[in-house]
Amino acid sequence: MKSIQQVHSKAYSNIALVKYWGKTGRQYPLNPSLSLPIGQCFSSCTIDFKLDSQSPGLQSFQFEEKEHLEFKNRIKIYLDSVQDVFPLIKTTEMHIKTSNNFPHSAGIASSASAFAALALALVKIENFAQDKPQDHDTERSSLLARLASGSACRSVGHNDFAIWGESKWNSNTSNNYARFYDFDNSVKKQYGGALLDTVLVVDSSTKKVSSSEGHALMNTHPYKEARIEQAHENIRVLYAALTSGDLGVAGEIIENEALSLHAMMMTSYPSFTLLKPASLLLIEKIKTYREENNRHLYFTLDAGPNLHLIYPACEKEKIESFIRSDLAQDTESILWAQEPKNE
Ligand code: DP6
Repeated sequence: MKSIQQVHSKAYSNIALVKYWGKTGRQYPLNPSLSLPIGQCFSSCTIDFKLDSQSPGLQSFQFEEKEHLEFKNRIKIYLDSVQDVFPLIKTTEMHIKTSNNFPHSAGIASSASAFAALALALVKIENFAQDKPQDHDTERSSLLARLASGSACRSVGHNDFAIWGESKWNSNTSNNYARFYDFDNSVKKQYGGALLDTVLVVDSSTKKVSSSEGHALMNTHPYKEARIEQAHENIRVLYAALTSGDLGVAGEIIENEALSLHAMMMTSYPSFTLLKPASLLLIEKIKTYREENNRHLYFTLDAGPNLHLIYPACEKEKIESFIRSDLAQDTESILWAQEPKNE
């Protein structure tokens, strides 16, 4: 009889600098996206499993050491949906435990890192079953993560930047899984430190329109084709800027993408707005500070009202002091940046 075994995994959250917005078929993106890892936010996953079990499938699930029926059902639906890609689920018993090191109210979608950690653990089980070494099988785990949530496929790297989706200019990119890049090296060379992300939480309540509904609205969006073109072009320019460490150019693209994402929401049928007055106020303050102080401080937005501030680690002290003195009063909470720890 087969015995119970255990695998562990860990995955960092990510924030898109060029946004995935709109999908088709089996979780294929309408346009390529490019993301920055969020070094201070990760999910961990442990799976106790038994191959060739009499009771295959997800047997128990705990989130932060407690049973969580909603998440359990979501994972069950996911595992059932990938039986053709991950057939081991039909014969393997699984007991899954996951946790995040960041609070639910941090303004960061935990689905990307959580599903990436799950996918990494599933691939470890597969490697164990096939007697393969426990390598970091990035393509396979990225593909499995994508089938759970598109943005999750960009979170299976070792804390690296990611590009997911076929890009016109780079034949190495794929709609099936993300590719990973260490742009931080060039940024570090120019600026003495990695790119950081501090999150200004403007409103942590659940948003009124889910990402899935937003993606669906892109299929009939009047600006669909123009948006796809724009994302391809922005990937091209941002890739070059990050490769050479030109943060001025990178920052322009990052902010253009954030506002374009929200412009798509405001011009779809039906339209919706996720930004709050405080989001706009903060954007204005950031632009003024940048112009007056000539510093590399840029913002991006997810599908919500919270701002992600992107800046190189060498500016940390000055920018954090600006955040405390001028921005903190317009926020609900702040999730401070930390340098990613590469393990
Ligand atoms: C605005 O990955 O959450 O954050 O594939 O339906 O799970 P599903 O959507 P999801 O969408 C993320 C959209 C975004 C931009 C991005 O992360 O690229």
